[in-house]
Amino acid sequence: MLSINEIKKPIAAEIDVFEDKFRASMQSSVPLLDRITHYIVKRKGKQIRPMFVFFTASLCGGITEATHRGAALVELVHTASLVHDDVVDNSYQRRGFFSINALWKNKIAVLVGDFLLTKGMLLSLENDDFELLKILSNAVKQMSEGELLQFEKARHMNFDEGVYYEVIRQKTASLIASCCACGASSAGADKETVEKMRLFGEKVGIAFQIKDDMFDFGTDDVGKPLGIDIKEKKMTLPLIYSLNNASSGDKKRIIGLVKNHNNDPKKISQIIDFVKTTGGLQYAESQMKQYQEDAFAILNTMPEGEARTGLEQLVRYTTERKK
Ligand code: IPE
Ligand code: IPE
Ligand code: MG
Ligand code: MG
Repeated sequence: MLSINEIKKPIAAEIDVFEDKFRASMQSSVPLLDRITHYIVKRKGKQIRPMFVFFTASLCGGITEATHRGAALVELVHTASLVHDDVVDNSYQRRGFFSINALWKNKIAVLVGDFLLTKGMLLSLENDDFELLKILSNAVKQMSEGELLQFEKARHMNFDEGVYYEVIRQKTASLIASCCACGASSAGADKETVEKMRLFGEKVGIAFQIKDDMFDFGTDDVGKPLGIDIKEKKMTLPLIYSLNNASSGDKKRIIGLVKNHNNDPKKISQIIDFVKTTGGLQYAESQMKQYQEDAFAILNTMPEGEARTGLEQLVRYTTERKK
């Protein structure tokens, strides 16, 4: 696996332009907002979504001005979703630093998330990028639905694998799918190709979230709190598998722990140990690899070259990354 910076190399110049545009698109004359967006820009993430936009555009006809606006738009939507997600998940750390809600409280984080989302939408509207806007608005809708579905299922302790896939397809894969659809569309690709790239992105996005959910059971420093899904009673694939394959005694015991852990670290680690010793992580890994293979199968129908290789490396990074 190459590092994210090595994968970025062929599009390094594009990413530089993107960073300027992204920063500029967040500007506000309200001092508090300006302070917060500065804080966000300084702690940038991996930028995989803009990378998907640029590589797919490049693969489907070439990077245009619209591709650049698409890249800024997806990162704005992504950033807004993280700011909101940390409120929803009661999480105090993001990218190795305090989250917005930790520093400025929930009320402000909700408003900042709304601001970022709107700025993204305006950027497209001002440039008549209606196709990009259509693709992205659909993703934003699905992301909210996915988060709400997850909430509802957490409340009822649902451990149906099908529901899990529906949640992650909506809350995470829909945006990565949009990145690839936007990239293709901004390059002038035909409808069929846009749809093909969307489907490719959806497969990658599902693999991406399975990986993210596996991190929660680990001990590596990934820049955000560990064990938080369990604390919030979010049923992710490793736990779902282990529960569905446990003896009825174990199942009762673990469900009891998930319901009544009261943030006791001993109880949380008992749940984590149970998942680790009953093959939950191996199962999640194998499912993730399956989605990766599906993504590769779609990608292989596209012309060979630097752009396709970039996407291949990005897919590999998705499932092998350490954060
Ligand atoms: C985090 O996404 C949110 C999920 C969908 C799991 P990333 O891992 O891409 O976040 P950053 O932007 O690199 O911090
Ligand atoms: C990620 O949700 C999807 C979003 C819509 C942000 P998670 O809650 O699983 O992601 P992390 O682990 O906090 O980044
Ligand atoms: Mg969440
Ligand atoms: Mg979260």
